[in-house]
Amino acid sequence: MSRACREEAISTSNGNEAAEPGGGPIVATKLHIPELPADRVSRPSLVAELRDGSRARLILVSAPAGAGKTTVLASWRADRAEQRPFAWLSLDSRDNDPVRFWSHVLAAVRTVAPDAGAGVDDALRSSGGDVTALALPLLVNALTSLPGPIVLVLDDYHVITSADVHQSVAFLVDHLPRTVQVALAGRSDPPLGLARLRASAELLEIRAPDLRLSAGEATALLNGSLRLLSSRLSLREIGNELYVSLNTIKTHTRNVYAKLRVSSRQQAVIRARELGLLGRPRAARH
Ligand SMILES: Nc1ncnc2c1ncn2[C@@H]1O[C@H](COP(=O)(O)OP(=O)(O)OP(=O)(O)O)[C@@H](O)[C@H]1O
Ligand SMILES: [Mg+2]
Repeated sequence: MSRACREEAISTSNGNEAAEPGGGPIVATKLHIPELPADRVSRPSLVAELRDGSRARLILVSAPAGAGKTTVLASWRADRAEQRPFAWLSLDSRDNDPVRFWSHVLAAVRTVAPDAGAGVDDALRSSGGDVTALALPLLVNALTSLPGPIVLVLDDYHVITSADVHQSVAFLVDHLPRTVQVALAGRSDPPLGLARLRASAELLEIRAPDLRLSAGEATALLNGSLRLLSSRLSLREIGNELYVSLNTIKTHTRNVYAKLRVSSRQQAVIRARELGLLGRPRAARH
C-alpha cells in the first residue's frame, strides 16, 4: 500500500485510538510494512546476511534514494526462514520531536506485542525535555520483557536531524536486550557511534554496493517491467495488473527509464529492443 494512501487512526487492543503525545491519533500508515514490488527480484544472499546477522545490535542500511533499502528490509521480513515479528516505523520530519518519536516507536512495538510498555506513555508525557533519562529506561525494561524476540525497523532515518533523538536512539542501542535488533534504513549515516559498534562487531552494514543489482538481477527486473511497458496498457492498468499503486508504477517506470537512459515509454521500448531485452512486438491485447 502506498504511503500516500488513506490515513487511518490505529486502534489499540482495548479499542481506543492510540494517541499522539499532543492528543491526536497516530497515523497508521507510518506503522505499515510496505508491500513488496510484484516483480521483485529476490536477493537471497542479502536476505540471508540480514537474517543471520543476529549478533549485531544495529543493522544499518545506508544508501542513496531508490537504492532498494526499504525493499530489502521488507524482503527480509517476508522471508520464510525469518521467524521474528517486525515492528516497523516509517519516520517523517515531525518525528524530530523526541516525545513524538518514542511514542511512534512504542506504537510500532505494540503492533507485535499489544500489551508492551504500560507506563511508558505516561513517562513520555511527563518527561519534559529529558526523554532519555526519564522514559527510555522504562522502554528498555518493556523490550526486555517482550514474550519473544523482535526486529524493530526505523525506516527513512535520514529525516532525523535532532541531536536529542539521535542521543536517545544511541542510548537504546547501547541498552538493547539481546532479543531485540534495531534495523535502521536511511540515505545518510546517522551519528550513533557507529565506529564503536563496528569495533565490537555489533554493527551489520548494508551499503549501496551491496544493494546494487547484479547484471542477471537487473536483466530479470527489466524484462518483467519492459514486457508490461511495451504492452498497450496504461500505467494505471499496469498497476491494476500488478496489484500495486499508480505511484509505484510511476516510480518504477522512472527507474527503468534512468537505467535505459531514455525519457519516454516509447523510447524505452525501442532501446530495450535494440539491446535485445525484449522480443518482437506482440499483437495488441483486447
Ligand atoms: N529487488 C527489487 N526488485 C524489484 N524492484 C525493486 C527491488 N528493489 C527495489 N526495487 C524498486 O526500486 C524502487 C526503489 O526501492 P526502495 O523504495 O526500496 O528504495 P529506497 O532505497 O528505500 O528509497 P528511499 O531512500 O527513497 O526510501 C521501488 O520502486 C522498488 O519497487
Ligand atoms: Mg525507502
